[in-house]
Amino acid sequence: MALNLTEKECAPGGDAGRGSWGSSFGFIMAAAGSAVGLGNIWGFPMQVGKGGGAVFVLLYLVCVVFVCFPILVAELALGRASARDPIGAFQVTRPGTPWWLAGALGVTAGVGILSFYSVIAGWTLAYVWYSFTGAAGQNPGAFFVAFVADGGKNVLLSFGVLVITAAIILGGVRQGIEKAAKVMMPALFLLLVLLGVRALFLPGAAEGLAYYLKPDFSEIANISVLNAALGQAFFSLSLGMGAMITYGSYLSKKTNGVKSAGWVAGLDTCVALLAGFVIFPAGFSIVGFNPAEGGPGLIFAVLPSLFAAMPGGALFGVAFFVLLSLAALTSAISLLEVPTAALVDRGWCRRKAVLLMAGLVALMAVPSVLSQGAVSWLTKVPGTGMDFLSLMATVWNNWALPIGGLLISVFVGWVWGADKAVAELQAEGNSFPGARLWVFLIRYVSPLAILFVIIMTARGMYAG
Ligand code: PFF
Repeated sequence: MALNLTEKECAPGGDAGRGSWGSSFGFIMAAAGSAVGLGNIWGFPMQVGKGGGAVFVLLYLVCVVFVCFPILVAELALGRASARDPIGAFQVTRPGTPWWLAGALGVTAGVGILSFYSVIAGWTLAYVWYSFTGAAGQNPGAFFVAFVADGGKNVLLSFGVLVITAAIILGGVRQGIEKAAKVMMPALFLLLVLLGVRALFLPGAAEGLAYYLKPDFSEIANISVLNAALGQAFFSLSLGMGAMITYGSYLSKKTNGVKSAGWVAGLDTCVALLAGFVIFPAGFSIVGFNPAEGGPGLIFAVLPSLFAAMPGGALFGVAFFVLLSLAALTSAISLLEVPTAALVDRGWCRRKAVLLMAGLVALMAVPSVLSQGAVSWLTKVPGTGMDFLSLMATVWNNWALPIGGLLISVFVGWVWGADKAVAELQAEGNSFPGARLWVFLIRYVSPLAILFVIIMTARGMYAG
């Protein structure tokens, strides 16, 4: 449905038309902002802990280079060639076929992921304050359980996250998303480096680093570690739901897409690796720390006890949770931009599109909030054995993203055509070193690797 409003009525202060990036640097900051998120600072160290340390790190790097980077390039090429949202990207390149459904899956995943991502982002915001006051430090485990069970407070917090996200997106691609990313991302990098340096001087640093950096090669043949590494790399690079198709659609032909993709993947990987340099020394400074313990406990229940005990800990704690909040917000922006773009490209004005989608996500966030202790049947959804928030994370992260990624790699490799993607990336004299290797990876390696993840996930569910 096209709403016949002029750009001026629709989006005061926004970009004219569908928008575009002001510079390559701005694009790289925005796309790295999407990629760098809770997945890097929380998810990555947690997976390293579960996956036995440095072997996970090695497998992760292999997955980024040979499976995920090719898909990142493919999404950017498809977005830039079509200059459309994920649904339109498939429609423009293969009109009259059901391929647009792959884009629709991605748009739905954007709404689904943001519905629980905003809840966790709300926790990180609250913990900026709790680290400042020291409230979480006395008995952090019990404090966290009581905090998340407070439904009213957490509904407000996740709505707050969505209001901030929507406010940024309302400004448009250049004046909103790009401007915010250019401030938030450098601040995030600076904080991370400062925290990493401080963490190296903690009493558990040597033990933590040994765990993080010394590979135990008996784990290398462990298929479930490889499966986890690939899933983590995929989520971390924001692949499989068209976030990078959408961001690619705002790229000018002059920008070198492959080089920019290299920057985005490189920055995302550096942040994940650096987060390990903060978490492991910090974790091992705490008596009884178990790196294999997953879940929110690591960040919200273990670290606050360290912050409470160490000199200058309040400052360290505030900096850490500001870092997490910045990472979560720049990712939330891209999650909301995908469904917003889907409406804008169907004739909606940006303001209405943002408000509708943010409202929808807010409604869907409520059961995730209440599943953390406030409402008992949501705490254990019948037939699943999971709370509603974990159920959402499983459905969207473990199923929708890999399926979306498989469809995108098959589409770009075989249907739209790898040669078309290469031509798109080489437009305006841009170089694409290793183009032939990329064609091989996107046609064979990426789809087969993702298929493997999907089969392993299904097997795990069956076994579990
Ligand atoms: N990459 C984000 C993270 O690591 O936390 C999560 C994410 C954002 C996934 C955007 C998918 C997406 F489209």
